[in-house]
Amino acid sequence: MKKITVAVDGPAGSGKSSVSRQVAARLGITYIDSGAIYRAITWFFLEKYGDIDSETPFDKGIKGLDIRQEYYSDRTTKTFVNGLDVSKLIRSEEVVKSIQWVSSDKAVRDFVTTLLREWAGEKSIIMDGRDIGSVVFPNADLKIYLDASVETRAKRRYDEYVGTGKNVDLKAIKKQIIQRDSQDTAREFGALKRCEDAVFVDTSDMTQDQVVNKLTELIENQDSA
Ligand code: DC
Repeated sequence: MKKITVAVDGPAGSGKSSVSRQVAARLGITYIDSGAIYRAITWFFLEKYGDIDSETPFDKGIKGLDIRQEYYSDRTTKTFVNGLDVSKLIRSEEVVKSIQWVSSDKAVRDFVTTLLREWAGEKSIIMDGRDIGSVVFPNADLKIYLDASVETRAKRRYDEYVGTGKNVDLKAIKKQIIQRDSQDTAREFGALKRCEDAVFVDTSDMTQDQVVNKLTELIENQDSA
């Protein structure tokens, strides 16, 4: 397989991450979870300052921050901040509540974009996020935009939480998804948008396996083009 860069964007709960990591395993390429980087930086600043908002000096704090991510053959990823494995810590509600301040900061976005490009290097990768096709890899070999109805995305998140033993309310999750959609599409830098050259896949009525097959097929066709 020739070197390939695949950008997968879409809103929260569209299935990007689960699908991308499975496609990566199937094709033997590297998966990079860009959302985990924004989460890790949010975790770092919450640890540093206790609370954060638009006034937090992210530009100073981010300099020299050591962030790494490993992707393993069992399809899992681990994210490290200054050597500490924060993979579980970054999935907390606190991180989600404060992430908008971090993900809308220009200095943070520039830092993350540089890091993601460095990581991709000469490898074949599939990377998911919000601005991968628009900002990080505008020349990606293949851009995919995954979407699903708000109801479907809320139900998927609900099932995920219930699966891990959490007691959650479907209505509250739906509200959170709508709120995250507006934060993701409204920010000045790195907003979520559907690129004109992205292949649009509505996963509302598709199983995860069907989406994985569809993406694999798109990549293989691209590879032989
Ligand atoms: O994909 P996720 O839910 O783990 O992403 C966490 C947050 O990070 C989400 O609120 C949007 C932000 N994000 C971003 O701004 N740009 C990206 N490329 C990926 C994620």
